[in-house]
Formats: sequence, structure tokens, C-alpha cells
Amino acid sequence: MKIIAYGIRDDERPYLEQWDKAHPDVEVKAEPKLLDNDTVDEAKGFDGVVAYQQKPYTADILDKLASFGIKSLSLRNVGVDNVDADAVKRDGINVTNVPAYSPAAIAELAVTEMMRLLRNTKKFEDKERHGNMTWAPDIADEMNKQTVGVYATGRIGRQVVKILQGFGAKVIAYDPYPNPELKKEGIYVDTPKELYANSDIITLHAPALKENDHMINDDSIAQMKDGIKIINAARGSLIDTDALIRGLDSGKISGAALDVYEDEVGVFNVDFGSFDKIPDDRLKNLMKRDNVLITPHIAFYTKPAVKNMVQIALDSNVQLIQNGKSDNSVEVK
Ligand code: COI
Repeated sequence: MKIIAYGIRDDERPYLEQWDKAHPDVEVKAEPKLLDNDTVDEAKGFDGVVAYQQKPYTADILDKLASFGIKSLSLRNVGVDNVDADAVKRDGINVTNVPAYSPAAIAELAVTEMMRLLRNTKKFEDKERHGNMTWAPDIADEMNKQTVGVYATGRIGRQVVKILQGFGAKVIAYDPYPNPELKKEGIYVDTPKELYANSDIITLHAPALKENDHMINDDSIAQMKDGIKIINAARGSLIDTDALIRGLDSGKISGAALDVYEDEVGVFNVDFGSFDKIPDDRLKNLMKRDNVLITPHIAFYTKPAVKNMVQIALDSNVQLIQNGKSDNSVEVK
């Protein structure tokens, strides 16, 4: 059995090699380049493909894989919103993801960023760079006095709820499909509107679906408390960035932390050499603000998470090749 793993980074290689040693019957090729139109031909002769979500997997690419007889595509991440759903169905390609490589990794970053916003750490660090070691006017708030609204309570959202409860925050949540265990705690509100109206901080943990594209927009921001803080470590498409900027300009939004951004492809995880060379003025506008925290989609980027992403994706790819399905089979919609 032969598997090609695309886009293998140096930090993933030891985990791939460890898996490879433990599976002498499987040949794994670690390909540093990402899967795209230029590299898809390298998959010829392999039984399965492992990749991750950094580029769109278009119909052209998927048709090519199918023409090589490859029906097994395993992503090393959760989101499958970059995969062309029609082509997957048409070509009969089976897809897996890694749904729970480390929900804690994402949850911990989301909470870290809430804490950084509350404690004004970026403001203090900016002042310090200019030799200003004073306190005022950046007096902070405390997490134990906040009401935090968690939008969507899948694995990650639930972990966020747990961590925040440990801080003594009041946590409320909205999910169209409430979790039965959390429901017993009585934390759910019935509508997004109720979540927006009652939260000091809103943290998003929903997948990228057509129905929640730009769910944070001028209308939803207007329903939020004055001075709201918004955290997004889920998907960039959830937030209308122009509306976010308008909310920051007006002071309605007092802080934002984005680990994802709607135009992040081609920008995040790229070294441009200097701030000025980052080719996105809207992003730079956000980055320059002392009440906005931008991280380049790093919530997943921890050692335990990366190990799981690599090794679980390889396990799933073997299952797909052998049986056409896996414990981690996912429907691409
Ligand atoms: C995901 O797992 O969906 C992520 O956002 C991580 C990233 C490597 C694509």
C-alpha cells in the first residue's frame, strides 16, 4: 500500500516517520509541497492521499486524483470546507478528517486571547516598546466578572465552556443542536440574538457553512452590548471583516481577536519579510490596532495536535484504502 502525504512540514516529519516505522507494510512518501494543480501528478501510482487544508481542493485536482484511481483522501485537519463537494460526489472520492486532534489546543488559544484583551497586554507591550512603563489609562477587566457567550458547543466550544467556568466567568451558549450534558447546566439561550445581547465577550466555534457565512455582520453587531469583545478561532468566513472594522471604529466593539480571517489563504503562514509587504491593507488596518489581536491560524499548532493530525490522518487513509470508509469518514457538503 502506498500513500503520498502532501505539504509535510518539518514539524510534522518526526511524527510521520514514527508512524512509518510502526507500519512496515505501508510505504509513505512525505511531499513537502502542498497539493495543488502543479503537484497533483506526483500522486500517480499511490493508493491514497493525505493533505491538509491550506489551499482549495478544486474539481480539477479531485478529477485528476480519480483519474489515477485514487479514491481515498484524508485531511490532517477538521474543516473540509476547501474541498469541492460536487467533485467528491461525482468522482466517488472518500474523505476523512481528524475531527478531534486536540479541541483543547483551539480552546486554550481562544481563552488566551480573551485574557489578553481583558488585561490589555498588547497595549502595555506597545507602550513598553516606546519606553513607557506606566499603568494608566489601561486599567483591565477580570474574567471572573464577565459573561462569555459561546457560539456553538461542539468539541471545541465545550472545552471553552469548561475552561471559562474554571475562571469563574458566567458562561452562556447558543447552538442549534444543544449538547445534552451542557443542557442540564442550563447555560443555553434560545437564539443568537439572546447570546449577543447578554454577552461581554463572544467566542465563535461554528464550522464554515453557507448559512453562517458572515453571521457576524452590521446587524448582529448592532444586537451586541456596547464594548463587546469578539473572538474568532473558528473560520474566517463567519465574520464580515468590513462590519468588524466599522464596529471597532465606532467603539461598539472594544476588542477583537482573530486567529482566522476571511482572506487568509495566501497570507497566513507566509513570511513576507516585513510588515509593509503583507499584501492585505484591510488585515494591516486590523493588525495596527492595539485592541485587535491577529494570529495566523495557529490555534491548532501545538505538538500534541500536530502529532494527532499526522498519525490519525494516516490511520484513516489506510482504513479508506482497505474498506472505502473509516471512523473519521466525513461528508463534504
Ligand atoms: C482545522 O483543523 O480545520 C484547522 O483549522 C487547522 C488548519 C491546519 C487548517
